[in-house]
Amino acid sequence: MRNIVGYLQNENSEKLIIKTILENLLYYQGINTNQKVEDFSGTLYNYFVHECVMNNQYICLSTHEYNGVLNLYKELIYNLRALSIDDILYEDVKTIVKNHRKKLIEIISSKDDESDKKIIIPCSEYSADLQMKILRIDTNSITDPIIDIGCGKDAKLVKLLEKLHKNVYGIDQYYNKQANILFDNWFDFYFAPHTWGTVISHMAFTNHFRRSITFKTDEFDKYISKYREILASLKINGEFVYCPRIPEIEETLITSGYEITCYSNIDGNSMMDTVHVRKVRI
Ligand SMILES: C[S@@+](CC[C@H](N)C(=O)[O-])C[C@H]1O[C@@H](n2cnc3c(N)ncnc32)[C@H](O)[C@@H]1O
Repeated sequence: MRNIVGYLQNENSEKLIIKTILENLLYYQGINTNQKVEDFSGTLYNYFVHECVMNNQYICLSTHEYNGVLNLYKELIYNLRALSIDDILYEDVKTIVKNHRKKLIEIISSKDDESDKKIIIPCSEYSADLQMKILRIDTNSITDPIIDIGCGKDAKLVKLLEKLHKNVYGIDQYYNKQANILFDNWFDFYFAPHTWGTVISHMAFTNHFRRSITFKTDEFDKYISKYREILASLKINGEFVYCPRIPEIEETLITSGYEITCYSNIDGNSMMDTVHVRKVRI
């Protein structure tokens, strides 16, 4: 997170933000309902998370920290709204911006990780059609309720599936107003036993899991236990559908009530296979 912290500490970027705010103060005065504050702070929060994810897609904040960042943007809006537009002082805006940035830095500065430098996988969101194709999802055979873990800011697959199925949900660290898309860290979401017909994760949960295996990060144990919790959350005949694969753990499942099917995506790179893990018995 060095780049982001550097950006937040940089005087020129601070001046630019203050200038932009001063030019748009009337706009802030117009954010005069709780709903508008909620919406605009969500937009600013998503912009900030997008910058963090583009810098290091493996940054992992807890739900408490996500909410902390979101609340800082709400506080920023309330503080700017409280300024009198007839008598605005550059120094007042500067103090608000400085405090805001200081608090953001407090949340993200501990999130740096040396191993991030060793792996560069761009963080992208993919079209729903491409995800369907890669994941080999047959809309006629997957069963509800469906949940897409790390569904992305635009939740494209969730939006497509909800046209065809009744109970479709998504989880992501991006803020989303849609009631069925949960603003949560996947570690903090509890996958209750025997609940889900289909759990999906494209280039998200298992991509981060792979990285924790490769670099032996502290999160490894959390990924193993969350993966097991996800499998236990499947109903009988329910499926966990994901890409990339985790052969280290899949190999241990065959004898324990699950059927594994792999689909090749890239010749010569089986790690990028799509996997369907089906629960055949408890
Ligand atoms: C590479 S994107 C893939 C998005 C989508 N599945 C797709 O294929 O278009 C990975 C997504 O995982 C989300 N993500 C990463 N870590 C997360 C976490 N700990 N909890 C929830 N979402 C997370 C990111 O915000 C991002 O939207």
